[in-house]
Amino acid sequence: MCGIVGALLERGHVLRGMIEGLRVLEYRGYDSAGVAVATEDGLVVEKRAGRLEVLERALEESAFPDGRAGIGHTRWATHGPPTDANAHPHVAADGHVAVVHNGILENYLELREELAGAGVEFRSDTDTEVLAHLVSRELAAGGSLADALRRALARVRGYYAVAVLKDDGAPEVCCAREGPPLCVGLAREGTWIGSDVLAIVPHTREVVFLEDGDVAELSTRGVVVRGRDGAVVERAPQRVDWDAADAGKGTWAHHMLKEIHEQPDVLARTAFHRLDEARGDVRFDEAGWSDADLAGVERVQVVACGTALHAGHVLRYLVEGLARVPVDVDFASEFRYRAPVLAPGTLALAISQSGETADTLAALRLAKELGARAACICNVAGSTMVRESDAALMTQAGPEIGVASTKAFTAQVVAAYLLAVRLGRARGTLDEARGRELLRELRLLRPSLERLLSSESVARVRAVAARHKGVKGFLFLGRGVNFPIALEGALKLKEISYMHAEGYAAGEMKHGPIAMIEEWMSSVVITGAGAMAEKVRSNIEQIMARGGPVIAVGADEASLALADERIDVPASSEWLSPILNVIPLQLLSYEIARLRGCDIDKPRNLAKSVTVE
Ligand code: M6R
Repeated sequence: MCGIVGALLERGHVLRGMIEGLRVLEYRGYDSAGVAVATEDGLVVEKRAGRLEVLERALEESAFPDGRAGIGHTRWATHGPPTDANAHPHVAADGHVAVVHNGILENYLELREELAGAGVEFRSDTDTEVLAHLVSRELAAGGSLADALRRALARVRGYYAVAVLKDDGAPEVCCAREGPPLCVGLAREGTWIGSDVLAIVPHTREVVFLEDGDVAELSTRGVVVRGRDGAVVERAPQRVDWDAADAGKGTWAHHMLKEIHEQPDVLARTAFHRLDEARGDVRFDEAGWSDADLAGVERVQVVACGTALHAGHVLRYLVEGLARVPVDVDFASEFRYRAPVLAPGTLALAISQSGETADTLAALRLAKELGARAACICNVAGSTMVRESDAALMTQAGPEIGVASTKAFTAQVVAAYLLAVRLGRARGTLDEARGRELLRELRLLRPSLERLLSSESVARVRAVAARHKGVKGFLFLGRGVNFPIALEGALKLKEISYMHAEGYAAGEMKHGPIAMIEEWMSSVVITGAGAMAEKVRSNIEQIMARGGPVIAVGADEASLALADERIDVPASSEWLSPILNVIPLQLLSYEIARLRGCDIDKPRNLAKSVTVE
């Protein structure tokens, strides 16, 4: 939820790189930020509540000194409100040790009491400050900073990624991980730490991903990683292919808008190199997806959160419809606590953009303990989920910075479609000719996506947004494979415009939500296909008969003609229609949020990656 950056450089200036790092990490948490630098005159710290700009102004005004070692943090508050005092880094009483931390130290109250009893005066409400004092006391007992950190962490219960800076003598930097992600970049000018590779790629593409229990000691020429027992562990650097420029927003007004417009390319990058048209099949070159691996899959159990969960619901329709394999879909946060029963032959499938969502990881681990084979659909190479899965299907959405997930969602649905075809071909429910047809339909999607993102289509959605931005609330309705798109449309609108919105299966309307219909409740109805088209049409009529405005989105002309507002979507196969239908809904939320003056890329109370429960 928070961002960590840090470095130990051969010479020169760490501050600028840290601020740039914090800027790309700000999407992970953005209620306060701070830095600590080891200078010739000792440790200097600046930290401020508010956005990074506030910290930057303070650094400028105080002519903050630079150095060759430092740590920085951008926070999403868990313990104590976002104030200057609670912002990280936290400094030990001796003034020589600074700590930044992502995660939660569960036994911090006990430790705080113990330290207070020993005379330590606390300056914040955070759990993190406890760790700064513990490290400094362990240092006083002897050994290196890394030894002291390992001993201090042995007293702590919880989840953390931490970076520690010591200025006494030559500066030292260490970091450790138990839960939230942390990686180390091996650059020419020194060694960098980042809670996200995006903070590191401006300096180097050679990255060491730390694992749980690791404590890493930085030098200007690299890193030594030790496990919980203090023995050195090998962590080979990996080359990451994300580009620093991918994380910028270029000339776009917001990351979200840029990411919405990237979706035709994301489709092509995620899918097209895998299509084996001659055999009417999909090539999964990664381990774990061969015919033999898939032959034993009797059931799929999806676990995910938020938007990724909605992709899981679409996957259910696709895999059941095309491959005839039963699929269960669960909120990861519910699955992990409800004593689930997994039948033999279950493939547990986690879906996640970040690969670090705490609930999804816990659910996947539980499914493994219960005997399932673990797989994931994920966007971040080297993430915990990818490393802990027996088989990973990578989406190629590139860095997603906007907190509201857009391109990662379509990439997940594309991956779900590929998986459905692969499973269907491996298990013989799809023959070669049907496989070929499904791949052809997928290829046709790109021009349709481009059409939906043309300036004309965007202007149409903008006009609808302008007419509905002041209503009391929104109801999103869809059926079949587009029911999850109704859920996703409502979530997107809530997240970034703070308007009340609910997503429902259209068939449920008469069982409750219809009571909400009135002049100031707008309904966004995703039109149906085939047998469902007529049923959705009758939903539209029922809403209009009660004076509720209807915005119809889709390709069914009769439904579009009935509604007060129409947003036309190019026709496609029903299985692929969610990928097209979601685009106007993303744009609608974006436009409404923009008209209401909301902070689109950093909506209140949210963080991009939820690495704590
Ligand atoms: O990184 P993940 O895909 O695991 O994240 C899951 C959810 O936290 C995420 O989709 C969240 O709901 C987004 N803010 C939705 O826009």
